[in-house]
Amino acid sequence: MRAIAVSEYGATPSLMDLPEPEPGPGEVQVELVAAGLNPLDWKIAEGMRKDSYDASFPLVLGVDGAGVVTASGGGDTRLRVGDRVFGSFYGTDRGLGTYAEFTVARPDDPVTRMPDDMSYVLAAALPTSGMTACGLVEQAGVGPEQTVLVIGATGGVGQNVVQLASAAGARVIATVGRPDVAERMRTLGAAETVDYRQNVNDQVHRTDAAVDVVIDLVSMPPAVERVAALLREGGTYITTVWSVNPDAMAERGLRGINYSVHGTPEALDHVADLVQSKRLRIAIEQEPPLEEAPAAVADSRAGRSGGKTVIRI
Ligand SMILES: NC(=O)c1ccc[n+]([C@@H]2O[C@H](COP(=O)([O-])OP(=O)(O)OC[C@H]3O[C@@H](n4cnc5c(N)ncnc54)[C@H](OP(=O)(O)O)[C@@H]3O)[C@@H](O)[C@H]2O)c1
Repeated sequence: MRAIAVSEYGATPSLMDLPEPEPGPGEVQVELVAAGLNPLDWKIAEGMRKDSYDASFPLVLGVDGAGVVTASGGGDTRLRVGDRVFGSFYGTDRGLGTYAEFTVARPDDPVTRMPDDMSYVLAAALPTSGMTACGLVEQAGVGPEQTVLVIGATGGVGQNVVQLASAAGARVIATVGRPDVAERMRTLGAAETVDYRQNVNDQVHRTDAAVDVVIDLVSMPPAVERVAALLREGGTYITTVWSVNPDAMAERGLRGINYSVHGTPEALDHVADLVQSKRLRIAIEQEPPLEEAPAAVADSRAGRSGGKTVIRI
């Protein structure tokens, strides 16, 4: 099968011809139609997530995908041959990923049936960014009357966070890197935008907002400490890049959370329902074919993704 893979940690991803994966008992084989690109994909390929994800090589990139179940490994499987499915496929320890014609869904993977009228491209865009955004807003306890600052608001996770926090009744301040994106952020529910290329604290001060929650998808120390100064007493700083020291935050009277997504089929169903009911709008910026995936990965790595990318297999 055709797949985008690396031969070792840190190698440049390239198109390879690899054997089709066989499903074991309880597993199903999925023929992929689309794969969602996440920064996690290149982080795993570079060995930056060795502690959490075992790998074998050649290692196919990609976790999120959508396609059709083509074979069952026998035993008790939730999913049946012919089902249209989407989700996160965690097969890195077997060298499996979603930038490929086939992968395997394990029983514990958050993979579930797609809504009948949802496209494969849209479904592939949802799993990691959708479940993460829902988890962040829930764990931070975002609610009415709050002011929420979203750092990294223009990316795959951030656009979803802006919409969900706004729908929860919060006043959302979103960071943007280009003026032309500010209007799109306001359409998604942001009350204010601030330019992350300039001093974010000064700009937030000018909005007169006392920030209750920072949802940060980007900043590392010492930027985190600087941004935390915007929080009111008892406020929450939650990040997806594990850059918060919860003890140091507690000493400042703040709640610090390093968030990790743990997907489930139910969480995926919830995200799909949000999209179907138009409570979550997903903008897909690029849909490159499989052979152009290495360039799309390089763009994501260089911070040039400009939103969500879905690879057509
Ligand atoms: N812990 C977890 O469970 C978990 C789950 C999902 C994601 N993550 C991590 O969360 C991060 C975001 O994921 P994603 O899928 O949203 O990535 P993404 O689509 O690449 O988006 C990142 C966004 O950050 C913006 N940005 C870059 N530098 C910035 C700065 N200095 N200040 C504010 N914004 C800035 C970029 O905006 P421009 O468009 O202006 O370049 C880009 O849109 C990644 O590191 C990912 O690995 C972790």
